Amino acid sequence: MEGIMKTIILYKTQWGTTKQYAEWIHEAVAGTEIGNLDEYGADTLHDYGMVVVGSRTYMGRIAAKNWLEENWHGLKGKKVYLFAVGLVPANSEQGKQSYEMIAEEVRNGLAGYVKIPGKVDVDKLNFWQKMIAKSTQASAPAEVDKSDIQPIVDFIRGIER
Ligand SMILES: Cc1cc2nc3c(=O)[nH]c(=O)nc-3n(C[C@H](O)[C@H](O)[C@H](O)COP(=O)(O)O)c2cc1C
Repeated sequence: MEGIMKTIILYKTQWGTTKQYAEWIHEAVAGTEIGNLDEYGADTLHDYGMVVVGSRTYMGRIAAKNWLEENWHGLKGKKVYLFAVGLVPANSEQGKQSYEMIAEEVRNGLAGYVKIPGKVDVDKLNFWQKMIAKSTQASAPAEVDKSDIQPIVDFIRGIER
């Protein structure tokens, strides 16, 4: 049997959507590990051949941007796949901008990138966050759809074979 590339899914979340997606991916691909991005860094990822980074998007910024840039020296030799979670579509002007904010070296080195829908639970937001969320997108779904993890699952499986 071919050796399976050791894979970890790291999530950066505030309200739990990104963690939910990460858990679904972890369940869908046997043998993967999962963790909170903030608890990992270049020096704790030596064992992994593949690192899947899931990140919430907040006020125009993919929240894992700084982590990716700061830890890139330890990630360069690995397959690093980024999925962003948010309400702004990836191919909109604002969506493109949030991706292009990430250092070019990191973007060029990513094995893949996708943006999947987020959700907003208005009850959890403070007044300002409600205002911002409103201006971000007119319609925010109350729930996310598990099937949106499919491109990420396919990617991990494709690499493993
Ligand atoms: C105040 C606020 C600002 C947001 N800004 C953005 C944004 O700039 N781009 C985007 O795609 N989504 C944005 N969103 C949507 C979040 O990315 C979405 O709620 C996502 O599910 C949050 O991820 P989390 O649940 O993992 O924290 C924003 C949401 C809030 C409440």
